[in-house]
Amino acid sequence: MNKQQEQSSDLRAGSYRIPDNLRAYIQPETVITRSPGRINLIGEHTDYNNGFVLPAAIDKAAYVAMTPRADQEIHLYSVDMEERYHCTTDNINASADMSWPNYILGVVQQFLLAGIAVGGFDAALTGDIPIGAGLSSSAAVECAVAFALNKLYVANLDKLSIVKLAQRAENQFVGVQCGIMDQFASVFGKYNHVIKLDCRSLAYEYEPFNMDGIKVLLLDTNVKHSLGSTEYNVRRIQCETGVALVQQRYGNVTSLRDVDLAMLDECVKPADELVYRRCRYVIEENNRLLNACRDLEAGNLRAFGKRMYQSHEGLSTMYEVSCPELDFLVDYVRDKPAVLGARMMGGGFGGCTINLVEEGAVDALIAGAAAAYTAAKGKTLKAYVARIESGTCLL
Ligand code: GLA
Repeated sequence: MNKQQEQSSDLRAGSYRIPDNLRAYIQPETVITRSPGRINLIGEHTDYNNGFVLPAAIDKAAYVAMTPRADQEIHLYSVDMEERYHCTTDNINASADMSWPNYILGVVQQFLLAGIAVGGFDAALTGDIPIGAGLSSSAAVECAVAFALNKLYVANLDKLSIVKLAQRAENQFVGVQCGIMDQFASVFGKYNHVIKLDCRSLAYEYEPFNMDGIKVLLLDTNVKHSLGSTEYNVRRIQCETGVALVQQRYGNVTSLRDVDLAMLDECVKPADELVYRRCRYVIEENNRLLNACRDLEAGNLRAFGKRMYQSHEGLSTMYEVSCPELDFLVDYVRDKPAVLGARMMGGGFGGCTINLVEEGAVDALIAGAAAAYTAAKGKTLKAYVARIESGTCLL
């Protein structure tokens, strides 16, 4: 990153405002953080397979106002849901009936496990990331909380340590065996750039997202991906099974990143057809992402968009993490010349499709898609135009 880029990203971070509904919870010692949701242009279900992803942070975020207390009590309040939760630092109980406190408490637990003395605090939470839409609202909350605790208890964790800590919170406390993409994108997001992240080495590059006249349109099925976490963990195990089968002949293979299609045909296809299809998708998706990055560098967005459709096809038919509503929305836009590409985004089983759309066509496309979606599925469509913004910051 050159100096100029660094400065422009910093300047942007300085321009985010404290949401009005948090003001009532601010005292002199309060720390306030903002952590964004994310989109992912291509590279789905590749992160936990040591592959590549191409996410970006967006203009929808989680905000936390955290105030230290003199005792060991933790008092949590969701401003948007008007719900409260309470426990103590020496007895961090997961909430059984509300999910949002667990994204906070999982992070507190990880700080404690890392030997950082976290005291009691009050935290008020708000945000505008749609929940269950595949935009990583949970990772955003985790990272906002981790940044706030890091500041409040002077833990001096660097950004990558915060990302890994937040991911462990999701893995261990929430129980979703997610990869690193969501937390990484939330923390490392950069204004008007996508992040090309190698999830094996964690090396990353910012690619300018120069899409004059093109908008990133998210079409939200309004289907919550609640089944997703179980199936998500199943996919992970299926990929691990594939790796184990390849390892029987190729001892130095440690993940699907080390496997090519010929090895897969040789070792997995005869043994397990389902696992074969899962692994084949992942290997193809990694190759697709590398080619898509070349398209982006060459400014060939039409070619990039075609790869998004191919990605969706693989996710739907081989990896089987789509759903009829997502498939419907991708099919609906497929023959529209103003749409360069579309696919389901995130873990799947609901949530959003991501579409690259010519700016002038956005409004008509939303209207047409909404009417068609309701007619076909009896559900209401939501639509968001996502802008690419900077990552987690203190306000
Ligand atoms: C979820 C997970 C990520 C990633 C995506 C699929 O968002 O949290 O780690 O695996 O699904 O690409």
